[in-house]
Amino acid sequence: MFESLQPLAADPILGVIAQFNNDPRTNKIDLGVGVYRDEQGNTPILAAVKRAEEMLFAESTTKAYVGPLGNIQFNQLLAGLLLGDAHPATSSLSLVQTPGGCGALRVAAEFIKRSNSSATIWVSDPTWGNHVPLLGDAGINLRSYPYYDFATHALKFDEMMSALEEVKPGDLVLLHACCHNPSGTDLSAEQWQAVVDLAQKRGFVPFIDIAYQGFGQNLDSDAYGVRLVCEQLPEAIVAISCSKNFGLYRERVGAVAVLSQAPAVASSHIASIVRGIYSMPPDHGAAIVARILADKELRAAWVNELTAMRSRIRDMRVSLVGELEKYGLAQRFSHIERQHGMFSFLGLTPEQVAKLADEHAVYMVESSRINLAGLTPTNIPAFADALSRTL
Ligand code: LMR
Repeated sequence: MFESLQPLAADPILGVIAQFNNDPRTNKIDLGVGVYRDEQGNTPILAAVKRAEEMLFAESTTKAYVGPLGNIQFNQLLAGLLLGDAHPATSSLSLVQTPGGCGALRVAAEFIKRSNSSATIWVSDPTWGNHVPLLGDAGINLRSYPYYDFATHALKFDEMMSALEEVKPGDLVLLHACCHNPSGTDLSAEQWQAVVDLAQKRGFVPFIDIAYQGFGQNLDSDAYGVRLVCEQLPEAIVAISCSKNFGLYRERVGAVAVLSQAPAVASSHIASIVRGIYSMPPDHGAAIVARILADKELRAAWVNELTAMRSRIRDMRVSLVGELEKYGLAQRFSHIERQHGMFSFLGLTPEQVAKLADEHAVYMVESSRINLAGLTPTNIPAFADALSRTL
């Protein structure tokens, strides 16, 4: 029966990993998949994570099941990181550990289907490539709203708001809390307020993806939109990833959080959805995060490491635009300096992206999204030169 299946192309983002690995050239540059890299091009295990792992190794006494809701201490501490201290909505939030942010998005999609089977989720144009399969494959209708203007490299806020005027009550609008993936272009505080006001007026539910808390401005500012939504609206869904800010990519740790008037009911449904898909999440990553967040010293050490990752990416943004000045290209790419998080678009055609790979061993997603963390002071001159020769 499997003969009927046709082979599929690799995922547009993950496929870049294989292309890069298969290139024998030693001067190759990987700006593809969104993982943090240090100045040597490595994705190190954070020292705070190593220390937490040592403690867990020494202290842990069981490998018994954790249950569908996951690690309860992790859930409480992550809710604190998300909402900050003494947020008025803390008791209305049901937060449940999931296998990564992807697990959170998929569990959220199932939860949405149970709550309103005819709901539409509105996603930004463009959005992270995996939002569409994660939510669409759950059988939910998706529509898009204008977000990023490729000509001006800025937010199309007026067009976005006009489109959102059409959203029906009970539909959801997927927003990126910070460090918009793929555009690096975020909502300002005033724009968040305008979206919240519109949600109130239209009756739609914000569905916020927060995968880069701490990579934009700082842990609190990056959660501004989530905190505002949870303060002013009765319902929301948040998908949280700990992959990037704790560097725990392969451990698969994240959480789904539902803001509602009946948090115990929401938790009971999430537990039953989880039981029906993967029964319960893996333990290790969440145990590490809980250990770090619960321990004052470890937490301070982690915040320092997170700050260093954020600063390095910011430095690469500034250095790249500075280097492009030599080619008279600083103005054309000045948006890179203004944007936040790991990603920005170069605004290249797929042919130019292919040329960069073929002729210069520079790899990125076909949309010309680059991961700024793939740049280093050593490879920036070669990258800027290759870019100038490709335009
Ligand atoms: C990315 O956007 O590159 C990352 O979030 C990794 C992924 O899974 O796509």
